[in-house]
Amino acid sequence: MKEETPKAKGITSRRDFLRTGLAAGGALATGTAAHAMPPQKGNPANQPPNVPDWTRSLGEGVAVRPYGKPSSFESGVIRRDVEWLTASRESSVSFTPLHALDGMITPNGLCFERHHAGIAEVDPADYRLILHGLVDKPLMFTLDDIKRMPRVSRPYFCECAANSGMEWRGAQLNGCQYTHGMVHCVMYTGVPLKTLLEEAGVRPNGKWLLLEGGDSAAMTRSLPMQKALDDVLIAYRMNGEMLYPENGYPVRAVIPGWEANMWVKWLRRIEVGDQPWHHREETSKYTDLLENGTARRFTYVMDAKSVITSPSPQAPVNHKSGFTVLSGLAWSGRGKIARVDVSIDGGRNWHTAKIDGPVFDKALTRFYYEFDWDGRELLLQSRAMDETGYVQPSKAELRKVRGVNSVYHNNGIQTWQLHKNGEVENVEIS
Ligand code: MTE
Ligand code: CO
Repeated sequence: MKEETPKAKGITSRRDFLRTGLAAGGALATGTAAHAMPPQKGNPANQPPNVPDWTRSLGEGVAVRPYGKPSSFESGVIRRDVEWLTASRESSVSFTPLHALDGMITPNGLCFERHHAGIAEVDPADYRLILHGLVDKPLMFTLDDIKRMPRVSRPYFCECAANSGMEWRGAQLNGCQYTHGMVHCVMYTGVPLKTLLEEAGVRPNGKWLLLEGGDSAAMTRSLPMQKALDDVLIAYRMNGEMLYPENGYPVRAVIPGWEANMWVKWLRRIEVGDQPWHHREETSKYTDLLENGTARRFTYVMDAKSVITSPSPQAPVNHKSGFTVLSGLAWSGRGKIARVDVSIDGGRNWHTAKIDGPVFDKALTRFYYEFDWDGRELLLQSRAMDETGYVQPSKAELRKVRGVNSVYHNNGIQTWQLHKNGEVENVEIS
């Protein structure tokens, strides 16, 4: 019997896509297996039965490394950018190396960054947060004022609405760092915005808030009062440490489950008003142009999404066949992840993945699927479901509703093609 290979379904690879000429120039900058983990060579002199170098002498003492960092052998696990994607590095993005991480927390130094005007270096002694507008008592807080208030710590994912934006028209970037790496998940510590609003006393007609950043972009977004009173945090810590400068030191807005553009960094001003402001980031940007020429606006919530982080183009399979652990991340802006399914045959058959807790509200959730690889070509996919019953759509389903003019809110199912030699490629199947 002729073996039914996945090719029968019609696979479009990145190379096919590039041939069509749709891709932006220089797309090959992230060529096949771009920045894949290097194969381990080793030195037999340091392997049994020999005594290795590191056992023969004293190592460095304590505090030689007053601030720890990963082993030099892990130096490839870093944020990376795609040079041709943006005209300047001050208004650009670097991506989280999702393929090289595990669990559900992103280390602070590896969180993707997105700035419209570079990193503001704010002196905490000069930091002030102004709260004014439709309030009984306009207030100004120092950083110490904010730190003195009752606080909470919660893990949340933060995903740029443009994550996977390059993939709307076809498979483009070769690595989940580039296709899905505009997401991170850290434990934030901060004051509920509700507490600040109660202190200022919101007037009855106060229905919207304007959040403004202190960087030279002075980025602004309108936020509905209902969300502000629900779970928004005025955060100053990530994973226990003070926020890093690139993530908004000393204070940023955390808007759980909603597009990261609203998570204003270097937050300097909150104005209470009676209607949205319709500024740049909610009109010409962060809106979704549909086929009929109208645009979706105020598309705040990040719908459920998932991606297999390993195997993936930067994390190829180094064994020829046999027991294989597939690993990935799922998340939903509507709540907790309820289930993740995995397919290794391009969506013909689905298997329930093992969710490896903890599962938090609006946080990255880790899943595993273990199987015996028979060494044949596979088409790997994952599909997330959240506690509201929402199911992550295929890319075809998404395009039917949204067309291909969009940049934002691409939560379609990702396909990786695992080749016989263990290499993995970004493809689409139709
Ligand atoms: N806040 C300010 N003040 N300036 C900015 O350029 N970029 C926004 C948001 N907040 C931005 C900002 C966008 S588009 C994203 S995706 C997130 O910050 C990125 O947050 P991160 O750099 O911590 O990953
Ligand atoms: Co963004």
